[in-house]
Amino acid sequence: FPADWVPSLWRDIFDELLCDDNELDYGDQWSLNFNYSQTDTVTKEDRKRGWKVFCHRAYGDFRCSSCDKTWPSARVVVLFRYRLRGNRGTVIMRPFGQACRRCGDEEFDLPGFSREEVEKALLRLFSKIRKNCYGEEDESDRGSSAGSAKVWTKPHEASLCEACIMGICCQDDD
Ligand SMILES: *[C@@H]1O[C@H](CO)[C@@H](O)[C@H](O)[C@H]1NC(C)=O
Ligand SMILES: [Zn+2]
Ligand SMILES: [Zn+2]
Repeated sequence: FPADWVPSLWRDIFDELLCDDNELDYGDQWSLNFNYSQTDTVTKEDRKRGWKVFCHRAYGDFRCSSCDKTWPSARVVVLFRYRLRGNRGTVIMRPFGQACRRCGDEEFDLPGFSREEVEKALLRLFSKIRKNCYGEEDESDRGSSAGSAKVWTKPHEASLCEACIMGICCQDDD
Protein backbone atom coordinates (compact mmCIF):
# COMPACT_ATOMS: atom_id res chain seq x y z
CA PHE A 1 0.00 0.00 0.00
CA PRO A 2 1.96 3.02 -1.22
CA ALA A 3 0.89 5.53 1.43
CA ASP A 4 4.28 6.97 2.23
CA TRP A 5 6.06 9.77 0.45
CA VAL A 6 9.03 8.33 -1.44
CA PRO A 7 10.92 11.01 -3.39
CA SER A 8 13.35 8.46 -4.83
CA LEU A 9 10.45 6.80 -6.69
CA TRP A 10 9.87 10.10 -8.53
CA ARG A 11 13.58 10.49 -9.22
CA ASP A 12 13.92 6.94 -10.51
CA ILE A 13 10.95 7.13 -12.84
CA PHE A 14 12.01 10.62 -13.98
CA ASP A 15 15.39 9.19 -14.98
CA GLU A 16 13.87 6.11 -16.59
CA LEU A 17 11.51 8.15 -18.75
CA LEU A 18 14.35 10.40 -19.86
CA CYS A 19 17.15 7.88 -20.30
CA ASP A 20 15.25 4.81 -21.47
CA ASP A 21 12.27 6.35 -23.21
CA ASN A 22 13.85 9.62 -24.42
CA GLU A 23 10.81 11.65 -23.44
CA LEU A 24 12.83 14.88 -23.82
CA ASP A 25 15.00 14.01 -26.75
CA TYR A 26 16.87 17.29 -27.24
CA GLY A 27 20.26 16.50 -25.75
CA ASP A 28 19.76 18.63 -22.64
CA GLN A 29 20.40 17.53 -19.08
CA TRP A 30 17.24 17.51 -16.95
CA SER A 31 17.13 16.98 -13.21
CA LEU A 32 14.40 16.67 -10.61
CA ASN A 33 14.59 18.36 -7.22
CA PHE A 34 12.17 18.97 -4.38
CA ASN A 35 11.15 22.08 -2.51
CA TYR A 36 8.49 21.54 0.13
CA SER A 37 7.65 25.21 0.58
CA GLN A 38 7.31 26.53 -2.97
CA THR A 39 4.01 27.93 -4.24
CA ASP A 40 2.49 28.31 -7.70
CA THR A 41 3.32 32.00 -7.83
CA VAL A 42 5.43 33.03 -10.80
CA THR A 43 6.73 36.54 -10.30
CA LYS A 44 7.80 38.79 -13.14
CA GLU A 45 11.36 38.11 -12.06
CA ASP A 46 10.76 34.35 -12.17
CA ARG A 47 9.26 34.62 -15.62
CA LYS A 48 12.26 36.59 -16.83
CA ARG A 49 14.45 33.78 -15.60
CA GLY A 50 12.39 31.29 -17.54
CA TRP A 51 10.45 29.64 -14.71
CA LYS A 52 7.07 28.10 -15.43
CA VAL A 53 4.73 26.11 -13.24
CA PHE A 54 2.60 23.09 -13.92
CA CYS A 55 0.07 21.74 -11.47
CA HIS A 56 -1.24 18.19 -11.62
CA ARG A 57 -3.89 16.30 -9.71
CA ALA A 58 -3.21 12.66 -8.98
CA TYR A 59 -4.53 9.68 -7.08
CA GLY A 60 -2.54 9.17 -3.94
CA ASP A 61 -2.68 7.60 -0.53
CA PHE A 62 -1.98 9.12 2.84
CA ARG A 63 -0.96 7.71 6.18
CA CYS A 64 -1.39 9.72 9.36
CA SER A 65 1.89 9.96 11.20
CA SER A 66 0.09 10.13 14.56
CA CYS A 67 -2.63 7.46 14.42
CA ASP A 68 -1.58 5.43 11.34
CA LYS A 69 -4.96 5.80 9.67
CA THR A 70 -4.73 5.65 5.88
CA TRP A 71 -6.98 7.21 3.27
CA PRO A 72 -7.02 7.57 -0.51
CA SER A 73 -7.54 10.81 -2.40
CA ALA A 74 -8.29 11.49 -6.03
CA ARG A 75 -7.19 15.10 -5.65
CA VAL A 76 -3.63 15.09 -4.52
CA VAL A 77 -1.91 18.18 -5.84
CA VAL A 78 1.63 17.99 -7.14
CA LEU A 79 3.21 21.21 -8.28
CA PHE A 80 6.16 21.46 -10.66
CA ARG A 81 8.32 24.49 -11.36
CA TYR A 82 10.59 24.10 -14.35
CA ARG A 83 12.89 25.89 -16.71
CA LEU A 84 15.48 25.26 -19.39
CA ARG A 85 18.65 27.31 -19.22
CA GLY A 86 21.41 26.70 -21.70
CA ASN A 87 21.37 22.95 -21.89
CA ARG A 88 20.38 22.36 -18.29
CA GLY A 89 16.77 21.71 -17.42
CA THR A 90 15.55 21.96 -13.85
CA VAL A 91 12.32 20.64 -12.39
CA ILE A 92 11.40 21.43 -8.78
CA MET A 93 8.51 19.45 -7.38
CA ARG A 94 6.30 19.92 -4.35
CA PRO A 95 3.72 17.38 -3.24
CA PHE A 96 0.91 18.83 -1.14
CA GLY A 97 -0.25 17.10 1.99
CA GLN A 98 -3.55 16.35 3.63
CA ALA A 99 -4.40 16.35 7.32
CA CYS A 100 -5.94 13.43 9.19
CA ARG A 101 -9.61 13.99 9.83
CA ARG A 102 -9.60 11.76 12.91
CA CYS A 103 -6.71 13.52 14.63
CA GLY A 104 -7.87 16.99 13.68
CA ASP A 105 -4.38 18.39 14.05
CA GLU A 106 -2.98 20.73 11.46
CA GLU A 107 -0.27 18.29 10.51
CA PHE A 108 -0.15 17.64 6.79
CA ASP A 109 1.01 14.19 5.85
CA LEU A 110 2.66 13.80 2.47
CA PRO A 111 1.16 11.49 -0.16
CA GLY A 112 2.35 8.16 -1.47
CA PHE A 113 1.81 7.21 -5.11
CA SER A 114 1.77 4.12 -7.25
CA ARG A 115 4.35 3.82 -10.02
CA GLU A 116 1.55 4.25 -12.56
CA GLU A 117 0.46 7.57 -11.05
CA VAL A 118 4.03 8.85 -10.99
CA GLU A 119 4.49 7.95 -14.63
CA LYS A 120 1.24 9.61 -15.59
CA ALA A 121 2.17 12.83 -13.80
CA LEU A 122 5.66 12.95 -15.28
CA LEU A 123 4.44 12.21 -18.81
CA ARG A 124 2.06 15.16 -18.56
CA LEU A 125 4.90 17.29 -17.22
CA PHE A 126 7.20 16.29 -20.07
CA SER A 127 4.48 17.12 -22.53
CA LYS A 128 4.23 20.62 -21.02
CA ILE A 129 8.00 20.96 -21.16
CA ARG A 130 8.10 19.90 -24.81
CA LYS A 131 5.50 22.53 -25.53
CA ASN A 132 6.78 25.41 -23.41
CA CYS A 133 10.54 24.86 -23.62
CA TYR A 134 10.87 23.29 -27.06
CA GLY A 135 7.84 24.62 -28.93
CA GLU A 136 6.21 21.29 -29.68
CA GLU A 137 2.47 20.88 -29.99
CA ASP A 138 0.71 20.25 -26.71
CA GLU A 139 -0.43 16.67 -26.50
CA SER A 140 -0.71 16.48 -22.75
CA ASP A 141 -4.38 15.73 -22.78
CA ARG A 142 -3.96 12.87 -25.14
CA GLY A 143 -5.44 10.06 -23.09
CA SER A 144 -4.90 11.90 -19.84
CA SER A 145 -7.66 10.06 -18.10
CA ALA A 146 -7.74 6.93 -20.22
CA GLY A 147 -6.74 3.67 -18.69
CA SER A 148 -6.71 4.78 -15.10
CA ALA A 149 -9.08 2.84 -12.93
CA LYS A 150 -11.38 5.29 -11.26
CA VAL A 151 -11.12 4.45 -7.62
CA TRP A 152 -13.89 5.65 -5.43
CA THR A 153 -12.87 8.22 -2.84
CA LYS A 154 -14.84 10.28 -0.38
CA PRO A 155 -15.70 13.84 -1.44
CA HIS A 156 -12.69 16.11 -1.27
CA GLU A 157 -12.38 17.89 2.06
CA ALA A 158 -10.82 21.21 1.25
CA SER A 159 -10.31 22.10 4.90
CA LEU A 160 -7.94 19.13 5.30
CA CYS A 161 -6.06 19.77 2.06
CA GLU A 162 -2.91 21.84 2.15
CA ALA A 163 -3.21 22.90 -1.50
CA CYS A 164 -6.85 23.99 -1.14
CA ILE A 165 -5.99 25.94 2.00
CA MET A 166 -3.27 27.73 0.05
CA GLY A 167 -5.65 28.41 -2.82
CA ILE A 168 -3.80 26.15 -5.25
CA CYS A 169 -6.51 24.32 -7.12
CA CYS A 170 -4.80 23.20 -10.30
CA GLN A 171 -6.82 24.79 -12.99
CA ASP A 172 -5.76 23.27 -16.25
CA ASP A 173 -3.88 25.98 -18.05
CA ASP A 174 -0.43 26.37 -19.53
C1 LIG B 1 11.98 26.83 -1.82
O1 LIG B 1 10.90 27.68 -2.14
C2 LIG B 1 10.79 28.80 -1.31
C3 LIG B 1 9.49 29.51 -1.67
O2 LIG B 1 9.43 29.79 -3.05
C4 LIG B 1 12.02 29.68 -1.47
O3 LIG B 1 11.92 30.82 -0.65
C5 LIG B 1 13.24 28.86 -1.10
O4 LIG B 1 14.40 29.60 -1.34
C6 LIG B 1 13.30 27.56 -1.88
N1 LIG B 1 14.35 26.72 -1.35
C7 LIG B 1 15.35 26.29 -2.08
C8 LIG B 1 16.35 25.42 -1.41
O5 LIG B 1 15.46 26.58 -3.26
ZN1 LIG C 1 -4.55 10.58 12.56
ZN1 LIG D 1 -7.51 20.16 -2.22
